[in-house]
Amino acid sequence: MDLADNIYKEIRELDIEKALEVLAYKFPGKVIFSSSFGWEDQVLTHMIFANDLPIKIFTLETGRLFPETYYVWNRTLEIYGKHIHAYYPDTQAVENMVSKKGPNSFYESVENRKECCGIRKIEPLKRALAGNEIWITGIRAEQSANRENMHGIEWDAQNQIIKFHPLFDWTLDQVKAYIKEKNIPYNPLHDKGFPSIGCAPCTRAVREGEDFRAGRWWWEDQNKKECGLHTS
Ligand code: ADX
Ligand code: SF4
Repeated sequence: MDLADNIYKEIRELDIEKALEVLAYKFPGKVIFSSSFGWEDQVLTHMIFANDLPIKIFTLETGRLFPETYYVWNRTLEIYGKHIHAYYPDTQAVENMVSKKGPNSFYESVENRKECCGIRKIEPLKRALAGNEIWITGIRAEQSANRENMHGIEWDAQNQIIKFHPLFDWTLDQVKAYIKEKNIPYNPLHDKGFPSIGCAPCTRAVREGEDFRAGRWWWEDQNKKECGLHTS
């Protein structure tokens, strides 16, 4: 998509904070950042809040997050004194699904799992993205083979929005070093073998040598393991 290419040319020489600032002022009120409070997201949250950038930060509150995730969310609000917008699933849709199939239907089939992600993440995401031009995420290329084929800036045809992944080329060590240097709060689960953290029932710790995303929807086939937020 031409617009994504043009934006890429405009910001490729800039450091991340400057790039975020340029975009925020080029598309006033239309640049948003999605955070799941993972450590990549915490790096970006710090850059946005510490520089007072006019970029809305939102999270998809699925209702099934880890207690540790709520802890780091709250710590972040305390430290920066800013707002993070929470999007919840449609009440009726969750009530229907859980009443019909129980609270843990996602373990039973890929179809049920996608239904749950659809209700708890994708529909709220659509509401969060509506009317915006640039969607910032904490995705890094090294997180999975699938993500290596993505680009730092890309046109998301499904959501009709430009996606920007500022940390795309960062290694995990760079992320950790930045967190340490700036003393940024992070999810304590990262120190307990959780490199990637999603909903509690669908995330487990990984063993030494396992892939970053091995602990996400671990009971499913490798190639089905994206929830639909990031299908490129
Ligand atoms: S997922 O597709 O598997 O769930 P992942 O956990 O790797 O995604 O996170 C990648 C990026 O997606 C995060 O940096 C964040 O921008 C966004 N994201 C994932 N989950 C959420 C969530 N619950 N709320 C907001 N953003 C999210
Ligand atoms: Fe539901 Fe699991 Fe998807 Fe969370 S990750 S929305 S609990 S299926």
